[in-house]
Amino acid sequence: MNVLVLVGSLRAASTNNLLARAAVRHLPAGTDVTFFEGLDALPFYSEELDAATPPAEVARLRQAVADTDAILIATPEYNGTMSAVLKNAIDWASRPRGAAAIAGKPAVVLAASGAGRNAVWAREDTIKALRVAGADVSEDSFGIANSWKAFDAEGTLVDADLDAELASLVNRMVRIPAAA
Ligand SMILES: Cc1cc2nc3c(=O)[nH]c(=O)nc-3n(C[C@H](O)[C@H](O)[C@H](O)COP(=O)(O)O)c2cc1C
Repeated sequence: MNVLVLVGSLRAASTNNLLARAAVRHLPAGTDVTFFEGLDALPFYSEELDAATPPAEVARLRQAVADTDAILIATPEYNGTMSAVLKNAIDWASRPRGAAAIAGKPAVVLAASGAGRNAVWAREDTIKALRVAGADVSEDSFGIANSWKAFDAEGTLVDADLDAELASLVNRMVRIPAAA
């Protein structure tokens, strides 16, 4: 099974990157995990650019999405919603309409935020956008608050109950394609 990971934060010390890595540790051995690098290299979505031959970075994203069995997303909450680079990637992956790479792809949303509400708005908006884009997105998601103090030096969630919750969600995700 292949899992494509999209991390909506660009910074090297991203807690969403840590969260995604904590999640993929719970995937079964042998799962082929790819972190998509370069969300910031995608141009902003434009129907003019979205031509028969799209920009190379767009083609690379669409191919990665087309090739994967499932998508794992980790996004920060910026001003009450997902990050702009992530929304841009979803927009590109949602076209061409009727033949979109993301159509029918199982997807799970994680979010780490610096504030205290577990990034619930970012998760809700990401789930909504993925659903409208045609992905088979889980209504269950996983969010952590105060993410700057949520991980130990090894990148493990300090709260073992939260880590067990994360493992449960990730395991439900891997069953989606297996059952299909
Ligand atoms: C422009 C901006 C807007 C933010 N807005 C929110 C917000 O609405 N809700 C929230 O919980 N945190 C907000 N934060 C804090 C981020 O959630 C926090 O910086 C988070 O750790 C970023 O994720 P990262 O560690 O993966 O980079 C905001 C941060 C920035 C830079």
